[in-house]
Amino acid sequence: MQMPLLPDIHDPQESARARAEELRRLLEHHNRMYYVLDAPEVTDADYDALFRELQAIEEQHPGLVTPESPTQRVGGSALDKFAPLPHRLPMLSLENATNEEEIREFDQRVKKILALPAEAEVGYVCEPKMDGLAVELVYENGVLAVASTRGDGLTGEDVTANIRTIRSLPLRLSGKAAPHLLEVRGEVYLSLEAFQHINREKEENGEPPFANPRNAAAGSLRQLDPRITARRPLSVFCYAPGVGEGTSFDSQQEFFAFIGAKGLPVNPLVRQVTGIEAAVAYYREMQERRESLPYEIDGTVIKVDSYALQRELGEKSRSPRWAIACKFPPRQAETVVEDIVPSVGRTGVITPVAHLRPVVVSGVTVARATLHNWDEIAAKDIRIGDAVLVERAGDVIPAVVRVLTEKRTGRELPLPPPQTCPECGSEVVRIADEVAVRCMGLSCPPQIRESIIHFASRNAMDIEGLGEKFIEQLLSLGLVHNVADIYRLTRDDFMRFERMGDKLAGNLLAAIDNSKQRELGRFIFALGIRHVGERTAKTLAQSYGSLENLEQATIEELTGIRDIGATVAQSIRTFFDNRDNVAVVRRLQEAGVAPTAEEKRVGGRLSGKSFVFTGGLARFTRDQARRIVEDEGGHVVGSVSRKTDYVVAGEEPGSKLDKARELGVAVLSEAQFSELVQKTD
Ligand code: IVH
Repeated sequence: MQMPLLPDIHDPQESARARAEELRRLLEHHNRMYYVLDAPEVTDADYDALFRELQAIEEQHPGLVTPESPTQRVGGSALDKFAPLPHRLPMLSLENATNEEEIREFDQRVKKILALPAEAEVGYVCEPKMDGLAVELVYENGVLAVASTRGDGLTGEDVTANIRTIRSLPLRLSGKAAPHLLEVRGEVYLSLEAFQHINREKEENGEPPFANPRNAAAGSLRQLDPRITARRPLSVFCYAPGVGEGTSFDSQQEFFAFIGAKGLPVNPLVRQVTGIEAAVAYYREMQERRESLPYEIDGTVIKVDSYALQRELGEKSRSPRWAIACKFPPRQAETVVEDIVPSVGRTGVITPVAHLRPVVVSGVTVARATLHNWDEIAAKDIRIGDAVLVERAGDVIPAVVRVLTEKRTGRELPLPPPQTCPECGSEVVRIADEVAVRCMGLSCPPQIRESIIHFASRNAMDIEGLGEKFIEQLLSLGLVHNVADIYRLTRDDFMRFERMGDKLAGNLLAAIDNSKQRELGRFIFALGIRHVGERTAKTLAQSYGSLENLEQATIEELTGIRDIGATVAQSIRTFFDNRDNVAVVRRLQEAGVAPTAEEKRVGGRLSGKSFVFTGGLARFTRDQARRIVEDEGGHVVGSVSRKTDYVVAGEEPGSKLDKARELGVAVLSEAQFSELVQKTD
C-alpha cells in the first residue's frame, strides 16, 4: 500500500494526531507564559479545556500518547529507590567568597592566570546563587530524557519522574531545530510561598515541618512517589551547560540566550558586567533585594563570561577557577528566650512559640520564633531563659537554630508538654505517628476563632471584609459561635461594633450574602476538615458533585479516588460522623448556603449525571470508569438514591442493584455504559 504524501485530513486517526500535536504545542506555550514569563495569555479555565481535550484524544487513541505530552507530567508509580545515574561531565562545586575583599581577590587570581594587567576589566556574568539543589537535565533531540541530582558530583540519582512534574520546565524544547544532545545544569527550588504552604499543611497534620525552603525542595525532589512531588510546586533556574552535541556557545551570555529561546527557565536577574567593581555592586544590590525576592538566595555567583577564557583558567579538582560563589552573611542573631507560650491553632494543634528578647536580624526585628512542637523542644533542649541563635530561613516566623549551652546559668526552665489545653482546659492528646499535641475540646475558643477566620478567608468562602478583627468582635459580643451563625447576622448586630458605619455594615452583609454561592470545592475546603486542603477539596467536589453525596461517601469509595489516601478518607468520614458538624452544615444550608457544583467539563455529555458502579467491570478499572464519567462532566457516587441517574452493574453486582431496581433507577450493563460514553454526538 502506498502511503499518502500529505496527511489525510479526513482520516480520523490522522486528524486526532494533528490536533493532539497542536494541543501539546499550545499547552507548552501557555505553560511557559504562565510559569516562566509570568504573563498568562489565557484563563485557567481555557487552559483546562485544552488540557482535557488532549486527555480525551489520548484516551481514545492511546497510541498517540508521547512521553513528552503535558498530560504525562505526573505518571508512574512510587519507586523503591532512585537508580544511580553517572554524569558525563562531573558536576563541580564552587569556591566561596564571604566578603567584598575576597571577591576582589578572585578577580586578581583570574587576571594573574590570564596574564592580564591589574587594571584590566574582565567581562563577568553575575547571577543570584539559588538556595536549592543542583540538578542535571538531559535533553535528547529536544525531549527531556533524564534528570539527576548532583550526588557526589560524579554520579547522581535518577529523579526524572519528579523533575517532569516541574511545570516551568519544558518536556520538549521549543523552536524548530533541536540539538542532538543538550545537558543543562540548574538549581531546583521552592518559592517561599510554596514552602510556607507545605509547612502549614504539615503542622496541621501533626507532621514535623521542614526547617527551610532548601530542605523542603530536597525532600520533595527526593520523594519516591512522583504524585507527591507533583503536589509540591517546585521550580528551577538553569545556569550551566554540561555536554552538548549540535550546540556551541562562546560565552555564558550566549548560553543563556540559547537556552532561554528553547524555553528553559533562566533567572531574569542574571546580569552581564564589566570589571570586578560592577560585580561587587551586584553582590551588594542582591543582598538588599534578597528580602523582597519570592525565593531564597544565599549569595551571588560570578562567572567569567567568555568560554575561551574559562577554558584557559581551567579547573581545580572540585571547583572551576573561572567562577566564585559570593555568600551572604547568614541571617542569624543571638538573643534570649523570655518565655515559651503554647498557641492553639484551628485544628487544635498546640504549637509552642518562643517569645524572644527583640533582636534585629538582617534588618527585621524578631520577637517570636516557632518551636514547632515538643519533640523539637526536646531535641534542641530549649528552655525558658536560654540564650539562642535564631535564623530567618524563608519562614514568616523565624526559627531557633540552637541553644548556646555555654551561656547557661542553671536558672533556665524547661517547659513540659501541656496536659490540658491552655485555652479551654480540655484534655490534650498526642495522636500516634504525630509529633503534635492536640486539644480535643470541641468548643475551644481559639479553635473556633481560627476555624471561622479560615471559613471566611480568601481561598475558602471569600467573605470580603470579614477578617480577623471583625471576627474577634463577633466572638466577643457572643454574636457567632460557629460558622453557620455568620449567615444569621443582621445590620443591627454589626452596628454594635465600635466605629461601624451604615455603609460598612451594608458591605459586610452583602459580602456574606454573596458567599452563599461559592463553588463546592471552596465550601468543602472552608469546612476545615482535617487533611482536606484546597486541592483535595476540589477533587472531592468534582467527584461527588454535591455535599449530600460527599456526606454519604464510604472510606472505600473515598480511597478509590485519585490522590485520596486512607488518612484523608478517614478524616472526612470522622468529620461527617460527628453530629455537631452535620448540624452546622445543615444550619448553613438552611441559611441559604448553596454551593455550586464544579463541573469537570462544561457541556460534557454526562454533565450533572450521577453514576453508581456495582460488581466487577471487565473493560475498565474502577478508576478508569470514574475518570471517563468525570471527564464528561458526570460524577460517581457510592450509594444509590433517588437522585442517582445510572447504576452500572458489572459481574456479580451487589445489593446496590437491588436498591436501584427498588427505586426505579436506570440500570446499565457494562456494554451499555461503554456505548453511552463512546457516543460521539
Ligand atoms: S554554577 C561549575 N550558578 O551553588 C559551576 N551554581 O556552591 C557550577 N548554585 O553546586 C555551578 N545558584 O548547586 C552556579 N547561579 C548559579 C547557582 C549555583 C546556585 C549552587 C549549585 C552549586 C553550588 C555551589
